[in-house]
Amino acid sequence: MKGLILSGGKGTRLYPLTYTRAKQLIPVANKPVLVRVIESIRDAGVTDIGIIVGDTAPEIKEALAKRPELGVNLTYIHQPSPDGLAHAVRIAQDFLGDDRFVMFLGDNVLQGGISDLIRQFASSDWNSQLVLKAVGMERASSYGVVELADDGRIRRLVEKPKIPPSNLALVGIYMFDAHIFEAVNSIGRSARGEYEITDAIQWLIDKGYHVFPHIHEGWWIDTGEPEEMLTANDFVLMEIEPSISPEADIINSQVDARVTVERGARIIDSVVRGPAIIGENTVIEQSYIGPFTSVYYDVVVRNCEIEHSIILENSRVMDLDVRLQDSLIGRSASVLRDHRKPRALKMNLGDHSTVWIPD
Ligand code: G1P
Repeated sequence: MKGLILSGGKGTRLYPLTYTRAKQLIPVANKPVLVRVIESIRDAGVTDIGIIVGDTAPEIKEALAKRPELGVNLTYIHQPSPDGLAHAVRIAQDFLGDDRFVMFLGDNVLQGGISDLIRQFASSDWNSQLVLKAVGMERASSYGVVELADDGRIRRLVEKPKIPPSNLALVGIYMFDAHIFEAVNSIGRSARGEYEITDAIQWLIDKGYHVFPHIHEGWWIDTGEPEEMLTANDFVLMEIEPSISPEADIINSQVDARVTVERGARIIDSVVRGPAIIGENTVIEQSYIGPFTSVYYDVVVRNCEIEHSIILENSRVMDLDVRLQDSLIGRSASVLRDHRKPRALKMNLGDHSTVWIPD
C-alpha cells in the first residue's frame, strides 16, 4: 500500500490566515492538520507517501523536513494548477505504480484512526473503498454524495448535488487499486472545470468494478472555515492524552488535569482549565485560559481571559478587559490595550480579517 495526500489548494475560505500559510499547516491542538493526516496513514503501516503540492510547496516541504520522527518516506508531486482530485491521481501515477493506495485530503480531521480500514482494503480484492459520513441533509449539497445499492455496494455518486440523493457524504478518504488510472484518464472536466474523483469512481462502477463504502461513525471535520478549525480543535483536545512536560514551569497557578503543557512553557499566577494546550516556550501570566483553547509556541498572554480559541505562534495577547473567545489569532499577531488618547479602536488588520466588538 502507498499513501497519497492532497495538500495543494489556496484555502481561500480561511483568509487571512492562509494568505501567509498553507491551510494544511494550521494546527489543531498544536499540531498541523497535515501532520495528523500523515500519522494516521503511517499508523496503518503505510510509509511510502506522496504529497500533492501547489503554490505552498516550499512551506509544506520546510515544515515536514523538520519532523523526521514521523518515520515516513515523502515524495512531493507538483500540481501546477488546482485541476481536481482526479487530476491529482493522474499526475501521481508514476509514484503509485501498480500499488493499492489510500488517498486522503490533507485538511480533513477524523476521529480515531483509519488504520484498520486501510489494512482491510490492503488484503481485499476490492477495487475501491470510500469513507462516508452521514451528515444533515442541508449540508449534503456541499459534498460529494453517495447512493447505496441494496447489496451494500455503491450505486451512484454525485458531486455537490442541488438535491442530494442521500445524506451520505464522501469525507475525502478513498482507497483504490490501479484500475483508477484508467478511470481518471477517461473522464472529462466537470461543470466547475475540474477533473472530479467522483466522476472517476462513477466510471469504475459503470464498468462493473467493485466499489464498497465504509460509513464512519465518529466525528469528521473538513477544516475549510474558521468555525470548523475551532470545532476540530475542540474534538482533538478532548481526545489527546493530557501531559505536563517536566521542562515546563507552573508557578502559583491552577492547571487542571485536562491540560497539556509543552516544553519550556511558563504559567505564572494563572488559571488554566482544560481541555487546553499551552505550547513550547509560551508564557501565560496573570491570566485565565479556559476550555477548548490551544496556544501555540512562543506566545505571550498577560493579564487576559481567553476561552475556546486558537492562538498561533509568536503572538501577544495582553491587558484585555473583556474575554477573548471563539477566536482564531494568526502568527505574530498582537492584541493589546492602549492607554493613550483618543480612546478608540485602533486596528492594523490583514485583508479578509473580521473583528467583533461586544455590545
Ligand atoms: C472534495 C470532494 C468531495 C468531498 C469533499 C470532502 O470537495 O470533491 O466529493 O465530499 O472534498 O471534503 P472540495 O473540497 O474539493 O470542494
